[in-house]
Amino acid sequence: MESAQAAAAPRPSEPVPPADRLIVALDLPSATAAIEMVDELQGVCRWFKVGMELYYAAGNTVVTHLRDRGFDVFLDLKLHDIPNTVAAAIRTVSSTGASLLTLHAAGGEKMMRAAVQAASHPEAPRLLAVTVLTSMDAADLNATGVSDSTEAQVVRLAKLACGIGVPGLVCSPQEVAAVRQAVGQDALLVVPGVRPTGEQGSDDQARVATPAQAIASGASMLVVGRPITRATEPAKAAAAILEEIGRAESSGQVVVPGRGI
Ligand code: C5P
Repeated sequence: MESAQAAAAPRPSEPVPPADRLIVALDLPSATAAIEMVDELQGVCRWFKVGMELYYAAGNTVVTHLRDRGFDVFLDLKLHDIPNTVAAAIRTVSSTGASLLTLHAAGGEKMMRAAVQAASHPEAPRLLAVTVLTSMDAADLNATGVSDSTEAQVVRLAKLACGIGVPGLVCSPQEVAAVRQAVGQDALLVVPGVRPTGEQGSDDQARVATPAQAIASGASMLVVGRPITRATEPAKAAAAILEEIGRAESSGQVVVPGRGI
């Protein structure tokens, strides 16, 4: 565990191109719609997230399509079941070529141990444990029986997951600094709930921040969906976010942690 000071201090590291730090969420209803969006973003973005909506509609076909075109894929299936079922699901999707795969840290220690074991071969995606959904506010969390603050719960789940050997986490931009401090520099921190500077409204997201704020707080990678996919010009919207990431990075305050995907 690192001290607050050590965790906040910039460390020398190779610069990471902003396109390696932005994942576009393809929350779209079909492979056709997803491929149209990817065509628009080709040459600007290199990471795409396939979540439940698209995966349930198109399955592995869309993942294979993205991999064949040279993109990296984050498979956001948010697995949450008994250990045997989660481990089997991980083995089943391991051959898709996805680089990242989510499971819920709330599934607990035994589930995460089984998951780490199932993902222990070289072709398997790197696991990310989802802490508390970015759409939940303090009242939502309290209503599920958690009386601690959101940050305390996020940090508790982050430590539990990292202690078991899960290499990465998903958390909101509002807790990323606390998580980084708690788990150190090596964890891959993937951060949704990002809304570009100047964007009006946050849709169903409750705990949001700008790309620059998320990066400066210690995020490794950002996930952005609707601000890009619903823009009149998606490539322009993505380019503006990449510029904001680049500016935050060149401010000199930024650590580039969790590399080596
Ligand atoms: O459109 P928007 O930028 O809000 O999309 C965020 C994406 O990140 C969605 O695909 C959502 O499923 C995902 N996500 C999230 N919060 C988490 C984990 C994943 O918003 N805690």
